[in-house]
Amino acid sequence: MRTCYIPYFLLIISTCISCGPKEAKNHIQVGFAQAMSSDNWRKEMEKGMQVQSSLYPHVKLEIKNANNNVESQIQQIHDFIDERVDVLIVSPIKSKPVTAAIENALKAGIPTIIIDRKIDGNNYTAYIGANNMDIGKDAAKYILSGIKDFTSVVQITGDIASSPARERQLGFESVLKKSEKVKLVATIHGDWEKPSVTGPLDKLLDSMTPGYIFAHNDRMAMGVWEVLKQHDLQNKVKIVGVDGLYGPNGGIQYVKDKILLATILYPTGGAEAIDLAVKIVNGEFVHKNNTLNTVVIDSVNVDLMQNQFNKLVEQQNDIEGQQQVINEQVKAYQSQNSMIKLMIGLLVLLLALALWSIYSAVKISRSKRKLEIINEKIKTQRNQIKKFAQQLKESNDSKINFFTALSHEFKTPLTLITSSVETIFEQNKALVGQSSFEMNLIINNSKRLIRLINELLDFRKLETDSFTLKPRKSDIKEIMEHVLGDFKLEAVKHSVQLKVKYPKSPCYLWVDTNALDKVFFNVLSNAMKFTPAHGKIEVEIFEEEEKVKICIRDTGIGIPQEDIQNIFNPFVQASNNDRPSSGLGLYIAKQFIELHKGTIAIHTQKGTEFIIVIPKGNKHLQHIKIYPDNIQITEEFENHLKPSEPESILFEPASVQDNFSDLLIIEDNTDLCHLLVKQLKNDYNIYISIGNDAIEKALDIIPDIVICDLNLPETSGFELAKKLKEDLRTSHIPVIVLTAMGDEDSYIKAMNAGADFYITKPFQMDALKQVLKTILYNRERLRYYYANKLDSIASVGFDKDEQDFVKKINAYVLENLNNPEFSVEELAKELHISRVQLYRKVKAILGVSISDYINGVRLEKAQELLQDSSLHISEIAYGVGFSSPGYFSTAFKNKYGITPKRYRN
Ligand code: FRU
Repeated sequence: MRTCYIPYFLLIISTCISCGPKEAKNHIQVGFAQAMSSDNWRKEMEKGMQVQSSLYPHVKLEIKNANNNVESQIQQIHDFIDERVDVLIVSPIKSKPVTAAIENALKAGIPTIIIDRKIDGNNYTAYIGANNMDIGKDAAKYILSGIKDFTSVVQITGDIASSPARERQLGFESVLKKSEKVKLVATIHGDWEKPSVTGPLDKLLDSMTPGYIFAHNDRMAMGVWEVLKQHDLQNKVKIVGVDGLYGPNGGIQYVKDKILLATILYPTGGAEAIDLAVKIVNGEFVHKNNTLNTVVIDSVNVDLMQNQFNKLVEQQNDIEGQQQVINEQVKAYQSQNSMIKLMIGLLVLLLALALWSIYSAVKISRSKRKLEIINEKIKTQRNQIKKFAQQLKESNDSKINFFTALSHEFKTPLTLITSSVETIFEQNKALVGQSSFEMNLIINNSKRLIRLINELLDFRKLETDSFTLKPRKSDIKEIMEHVLGDFKLEAVKHSVQLKVKYPKSPCYLWVDTNALDKVFFNVLSNAMKFTPAHGKIEVEIFEEEEKVKICIRDTGIGIPQEDIQNIFNPFVQASNNDRPSSGLGLYIAKQFIELHKGTIAIHTQKGTEFIIVIPKGNKHLQHIKIYPDNIQITEEFENHLKPSEPESILFEPASVQDNFSDLLIIEDNTDLCHLLVKQLKNDYNIYISIGNDAIEKALDIIPDIVICDLNLPETSGFELAKKLKEDLRTSHIPVIVLTAMGDEDSYIKAMNAGADFYITKPFQMDALKQVLKTILYNRERLRYYYANKLDSIASVGFDKDEQDFVKKINAYVLENLNNPEFSVEELAKELHISRVQLYRKVKAILGVSISDYINGVRLEKAQELLQDSSLHISEIAYGVGFSSPGYFSTAFKNKYGITPKRYRN
């Protein structure tokens, strides 16, 4: 906005600067068409004009020089006419040719002054110049006044086409005619310049010597003198010239130098012409013919004339000097004037800009204030919205968290109910008889509740992006068959025909079987729900080059067209469906399929068709961790636990069985503890901790294996696992995590804490039993390894802490080989653990008691010595730390089945 005013201000300034007092219409433009500027007389004329016009500040003089060229002069006159000069002054080169041009000027309304030379006729405004007839007459009279005897005279004229030459000749000859004492013997026609004279005169002088020569100007007169000099007649022939110029090459000087007898002053009229022009422009009266005075200058008055001219020149110089000063002052005034104008302009601009800046500043500050207020309002609103959103989120989160936590909480009791009822049902089949319908009702509805809870938990995971796909290579037919198994009975019950069409060979896809299981279950239960009796459900699997297509068609009521686009949204159910539904099943199905980079679409006309497409291979799952086929994370599915009669939990085993392994269960759910005790008490000595005393118990018992929940009062399973694994006394104990937290993060956290196995609830009891067995079996193998490779425990793949522990024991034992006093207590002290802990740890790792182990090391050393040394057997016995050779012999025979003596032989 501001910038568009700047040009406007600049315009004002430039106008201010340029709008000083206008000289244009006050000044007088004078154009002078000069015949030539080559001679001093003409220069004197121009100088006179310039000096005089400088006295008129408003007179502007322009001189155009025709260089004695008539065409040029005519053109220049026309140029002045075009310029519309106020006055035109012309000194015509020749009379006739210039006349018409001057008439044109008059026609154009330009007053025209003729100077020095005339034109044909009187068509001009004014003439200024001396009377040339009189000049001719004065010259003749002067010659006549000087002669006594008869004498001859020669005349040298100027250019006869110019009026002065014609008039001077006329005047001269008119006087001479009347006298009998002189005779004009010859007339030479020159062109006003010296060269035009010399040739003809030179010739003439060959034949005669005149008494006088009259030249029409001093320049030609000087030429005459030079020719006379050549003929040595300079003192014999007298010369009279015209012009009488002042200065070194002027006629006055020639008279003084006796070159000329006399010269007739011919004033240039330059100054007078300017006066005349001003008068004409000012409308003052002027004479048409303005005659300038002439005078004869000879030896009598030459000094006087020169003095007068000197004074005149001095005055003229003074005037010029003063004029110079005035000009400089005018220039200074003008530049100062321009400067002041410029400064005023800038001041105005500055003022305007200052005003504009103040105006803008006020405007901006007002807008700023307004914006600040709006901003403040927006901020407040935003903060309020933020606060509301935060409150909403917190309330929502807390609801969902509560809901999720509650769902988790539901899982264990539901599992217990289901499995307990199933067990009762199985064990009392004969008794329940007629109640079997109710039993099935309980079982089926419990299962349904578990499924719904799982659905809600899946939904939550999908919503929070925390669901992790665990893809593995699986036969899709097998998964479908497994799911269909759940529907077969129901189909028969409802008289619905269940048809399948599979490719013959296995149909492998990289899928999360658990997720796909849920997808198929949801779609099939949907089909089952809406297919009436005697209807049909068809499952078809097509294998294509890059993908597998699974179609599930039913002959049910179908889905209204308007519902189709929303049917996969959460909490949505078809408008023709009035059965209770969570509205999550299809949403979860779609999310799971999309996690596999597949698609699920629905077609409905008569009945409904779901088309599921899943890409083959696992390239599209590169961003997801691919699980191997033999993954050891148990999957969730309904359990089939068979708990026996409820009993109080055994926090310590009633009687410790030596051949049983010690199992410490860290779990706060009493029911689950009961179940585990019931199921495992026949194979294990079970110890229970609810978490707070778990470490103390573990250190006390040094169990063979630990089962640990993650969510515990006062502590967490992660922390317990970490503590157990960091302590040398318990680091060898395998820890199985048994938890409802099925997310990837918890799994990784538990593994980092040192857990050996991770099992999610609800779990399969058989699987847990198998895991326990496998772990203990592996331990046994390890023990065997340690027990048989005591000296070379460096193999990779075994627990580093345990290797170090065994190595340490070996080092101490070998160091104290010949020390019969070396005891288990001493060794425990060296290892910074108690005797009992040492005993249990060695037993757990190596499967033997610490004293047996020490003996074993001693006997091995003894075996070596028997082979490689000649030491006596008793020396060897004492050397490896046995208190008597007899005891050594018995121990040796026990271990190797042969006495030392026989062994050596
Ligand atoms: C100068 C001049 C003078 C002479 C006059 C006549 O150009 O030749 O010497 O008197 O012109 O017009």
